[in-house]
Amino acid sequence: MAKQTKYQAHHPDADGIIHYSETENATWQTLMERQMAIIEGRVCQEYLDGLERLALPMERIPQLADVDRVLQATTGWCTAPVPALIPFNTFFELLANRRFPVATFIRTPEELDYLQEPDIFHEIFGHCPMLTNPAFAEFTETYGKLGLAASKEERVYLARLYWMTVEFGLVDTPQGRRIYGGGIISSPRETFHALSEVPAHHPFDPLDALRTPYRIDILQPLYYVIDGLETLHELAGRDIMALVHEAMALGLYAPTFEPRQAAGA
Ligand SMILES: [Fe+2]
Repeated sequence: MAKQTKYQAHHPDADGIIHYSETENATWQTLMERQMAIIEGRVCQEYLDGLERLALPMERIPQLADVDRVLQATTGWCTAPVPALIPFNTFFELLANRRFPVATFIRTPEELDYLQEPDIFHEIFGHCPMLTNPAFAEFTETYGKLGLAASKEERVYLARLYWMTVEFGLVDTPQGRRIYGGGIISSPRETFHALSEVPAHHPFDPLDALRTPYRIDILQPLYYVIDGLETLHELAGRDIMALVHEAMALGLYAPTFEPRQAAGA
């Protein structure tokens, strides 16, 4: 998580409504149109089902209450409006209570293609359709509970598991390989890249995922592929902390990417 941000989240008014500017709504529309044109045949059916249920508006940023009605009716989740950056503890606590943190700001037009902070488009379009899926929702809740009880060092390992599943996970389906990770689905470049011949695709193994380093500022060189979303349900039932400790004892795999350049280098 970045330590600084230029972004400020919006606060809801007395009626719970968040007012966005024309520019902000136009940014949402641009992002929606771009992604809607390319996700068909690339994202998993569970995502498309969730997206249909959410019926997100094209021309304006959705209100969280509208998203919440659908999440509540499907998996009992809801969103939680948060500032652009929140402490890890708050993040885990919200997830453990089936509340998905959504920073209520949208990227500037200058950062249309990439920004480090997760904005409302990433959270709503990237993650909320999957949160209507019971297996995905269950795993996300389990992750929150584990993170809440974990030490600082354990959390760093747990974060890799989250990264390789919830954010950048792929899934094999009878129709072919598909995306379910919200970090991919909210990025046009990564949507093409993830399913291309360029990155490595490995069968998902939680111990491997826990041991795989990543960088947040590049297209991922490696994705883990699950056999179906029920894998996330099975994973939620496993002793994940025992796997974390195993991963800590074994250590990290060598990165398959170039190190981030130090400032001034
Ligand atoms: Fe995310």
